[in-house]
Amino acid sequence: MSHTDRKILVTNALPYANGPIHIGHLLGYIQADIWVRFQKLRGHECHYMCADDAHGTPIMLKAQQLGITPEQMIGDMQRSHEADFAGFNIGFDDYYTTHSEENKALAETIYQRLDDAGHIKTEVIEQLYDPEKKMFLPDRFVKGDCPECGAEDQYGDNCDVCGATYAPTDLKNPRSVVSGATPELRQSEHYFFDLPAFGDMLKSWTRSGSLQGEMANKLNEWFEQGLQRWDISRDAPYFGFKIPGTEDKYFYVWLDAPIGYMSSFKHYCDTTGNANWDDYWQADSTAEVYHFIGKDIIYFHSLFWPAMLKGAQFRQPTNVWAHGFITVNGTKMSKSKGTFIKARTYLDHLNPEYLRYYFAAKLTSRIDDLDLNLTDFAQRVNSDLVGKVINIASRCAGFITKKFDGKLSASVADSALLEDFQNAGTEIAELYEQREFSKAMREIMTLADRANQYIADKEPWQLIKNPDAASEVHDTCSLGINLFRILMVYLTPVVPELSKSVQHFLNDQFSWDSHKQVLTNHPIDKFKALMQRVEMKDIEQMLEDSKEQQAANESPAVHAEPNDELTKEPIAETINFDEFAKVDLRVALIVNAEHVEGADKLLKLTLDLGGEQRQVFAGIKSAYAPEKLIGQHTVMVANLAPRKMRFGLSEGMVLAAGPGKDEIYILNPHEGAKPGMRVM
Ligand code: 2FM
Ligand code: ZN
Repeated sequence: MSHTDRKILVTNALPYANGPIHIGHLLGYIQADIWVRFQKLRGHECHYMCADDAHGTPIMLKAQQLGITPEQMIGDMQRSHEADFAGFNIGFDDYYTTHSEENKALAETIYQRLDDAGHIKTEVIEQLYDPEKKMFLPDRFVKGDCPECGAEDQYGDNCDVCGATYAPTDLKNPRSVVSGATPELRQSEHYFFDLPAFGDMLKSWTRSGSLQGEMANKLNEWFEQGLQRWDISRDAPYFGFKIPGTEDKYFYVWLDAPIGYMSSFKHYCDTTGNANWDDYWQADSTAEVYHFIGKDIIYFHSLFWPAMLKGAQFRQPTNVWAHGFITVNGTKMSKSKGTFIKARTYLDHLNPEYLRYYFAAKLTSRIDDLDLNLTDFAQRVNSDLVGKVINIASRCAGFITKKFDGKLSASVADSALLEDFQNAGTEIAELYEQREFSKAMREIMTLADRANQYIADKEPWQLIKNPDAASEVHDTCSLGINLFRILMVYLTPVVPELSKSVQHFLNDQFSWDSHKQVLTNHPIDKFKALMQRVEMKDIEQMLEDSKEQQAANESPAVHAEPNDELTKEPIAETINFDEFAKVDLRVALIVNAEHVEGADKLLKLTLDLGGEQRQVFAGIKSAYAPEKLIGQHTVMVANLAPRKMRFGLSEGMVLAAGPGKDEIYILNPHEGAKPGMRVM
């Protein structure tokens, strides 16, 4: 196939709209972005789509917790995701949301077609229900032991350890992640997609030979276990699209999520006119469609998704390409070590193109995990990009500017070397095409070594001292600049911003085929530093910031380990605001705390309300030494009727949690709260 007649659509797994982008997410987006930029540089029609995955229970609960509507939350999150992706130079052609009219219409069409073809069945099933939260529990909100391998603490839909998928009712020792309650079984009518009907089609797709080997093996295992029908409905309360013809049933988020690939492309086609949607999605489409995904969602993309498309008379993906997970410094990203790094935190400290290059230097077409070793990261970027590639330009450009009027020579010094650089383009293109980026980067750096060696051998800084050798210096340095230019053409998909600066410096505009051209008699700009070295101190600062943010942002309602606090003491009867407002809570400064003679449990506290002092007897002696409390702020009920006690008058009450003994925790407002401030 000639390399200008392809029509390609690329998608990336859609991030959930309930949390920020972190470096774990970025691996896949950067991988696909490099591939897309390569295709575009080659001149192909290639469109890169993504969207926020906006539905489901976690999003509904998170919005509840924040006290805002899900629509507001997903809107804010989409803007922040888009800003993060832009920060890493990830050039989506459209970034949309699954909570869109286009997605609703397509989800309904696909559902209707599947139903018309007899692929949807309903059945009353028993499902786990949280009696405290009064809702059916989605798979991810039940945890327990894997029914296949016994691994503990696994979610209700699939096992991270052995990859098995199952129903949450199959879990051993289940518990509700929302409330910690033991779920109970309740009946509800559910809608099922008949996946087994697509077994033959999926098997022939798997055996067509183009899937990643590891993925084909995984699929074969699943075929051997036997395909199961797929539950595509969820009961209210749920944030998603209602199933047509029902009152309280919604499409499970995973039904409409991949349809988001189609609907964001629809939005793109409709708003830009840059492509024709039908050309890419109708059953007879000859366009190429690729999904880049993480290894954890292979099941959804290689079984449900092609089957749904087939059943609804749309084309199937050309391929699904999975990547592994990232580890940082050899272990899983860790909040306490600061290696759970948000995209934004990275961008506050480091150049995004460092990470793009480092990922490229380690990515293969396989599903292997990739370690971001931060010391290696700094060394690799400094040695390859700064020390090898940019170094070529910085060694040659000064002579061109100072001695030759900023103009490259009419001929280059060593055409054999130049030809080697040009010829390498075929192999490097093939490696990009195959997603063998690490091999491509190795080829490019081997060429960079040769260019540096050439300049070191020529020693233009010595030659220039000899007036008769001026033209040799000119040719040598012009060749150096041309070699540098070819390397930067090859690196353009990986480091697009650096490439842009280089194109500006060279007064040039790159396409992939630029590597076949030579710049002669061509003016270049004065050389300016193109990229700073990575500094370890910036990396350390980034880790520190990540640690601090984690400490500040822990979100207890989402992350709290399930416990039985609510069972021990259920939430009290609802009150209205006026009733609540009668309780006058104030910030108080503990100016003194002392033991009370003859009292086993009490401490005598003197609380300052910013102009007025109160004496309060608090039953916290078993948990606090008085001297620890002096100088701390707390919260007190300031309008509680004074109580006469054996030891004196108690003029209010401090707020504390906990069952007693050494487990008593007094409330402590954040820094900045002043004595006397009302707490509402
Ligand atoms: O696993 C996830 O993060 C999902 N939000 C991916 C969805 S990909 C596609 F199907 F939408
Ligand atoms: Zn398991």
